[in-house]
Amino acid sequence: MKLAPSILSADFACLGDDVDRVASVSDLLHVDVMDGHFVPVITIGGPVVKSLRKHTDLFLDCHLMVTDPATLFDDFADAGADRCTVHVELGDPRPLFDDLRARGIGVGLSLNPPTPVESVLPYLGEIDLLLVMSVNPGWGGQAFIPEVLDKVRTARAEIDAHGFACEIEIDGGINAATALDAAEAGCDVFVAGSAVFKDDDPVAAATKIRAQAAAGAARRVPA
Ligand code: DX5
Ligand code: ZN
Repeated sequence: MKLAPSILSADFACLGDDVDRVASVSDLLHVDVMDGHFVPVITIGGPVVKSLRKHTDLFLDCHLMVTDPATLFDDFADAGADRCTVHVELGDPRPLFDDLRARGIGVGLSLNPPTPVESVLPYLGEIDLLLVMSVNPGWGGQAFIPEVLDKVRTARAEIDAHGFACEIEIDGGINAATALDAAEAGCDVFVAGSAVFKDDDPVAAATKIRAQAAAGAARRVPA
């Protein structure tokens, strides 16, 4: 399993310190980019990714909740983003995959809770990551929507059946309890914002999420 703390719940006024605090228990850093259009909120963009790149060697996992992601790719490539995840709700994602690959950036595809899993199945052999949203995007601290785990199970079975090199990431409402369920359903990468950064002891919280995700993965029954 991999843990990806979401800096959305960090303190942006001391972001480097917050990242350092959790680095030893993190595999990736999840960077939520929101444009005030695809979702109502505006967060951060390339300049913050560039600062993070100078500060940490952690994999920068950028989740683009934006209406026109292609306009950001040059900026994110320059900034040192390792992967950009785009949303399938925008329409045919293949041109975006090509744009990302051409820039040496990893490719992720995401779907919102109301979006059926069939919308992403045709692309599982072409992407590095499927990001299953387990809350409606826009804010940290929302409650996990357990019904999305059916989509995880379907995608897991499809990926395993074909031997695709695509990880499944779950994002929204992840804590120790939901990480266990998500891992059992087939997730590999666990985004956690508030459960890590809003805890009095972020390292202990992250360690507990990691342990529960490992326990859930051990319970997994192959399809
Ligand atoms: C929601 C973002 C998430 C968010 C998760 O739109 O994509 O990455 O930071 O926050 P928590 O873990 O608090 O639900
Ligand atoms: Zn996210």
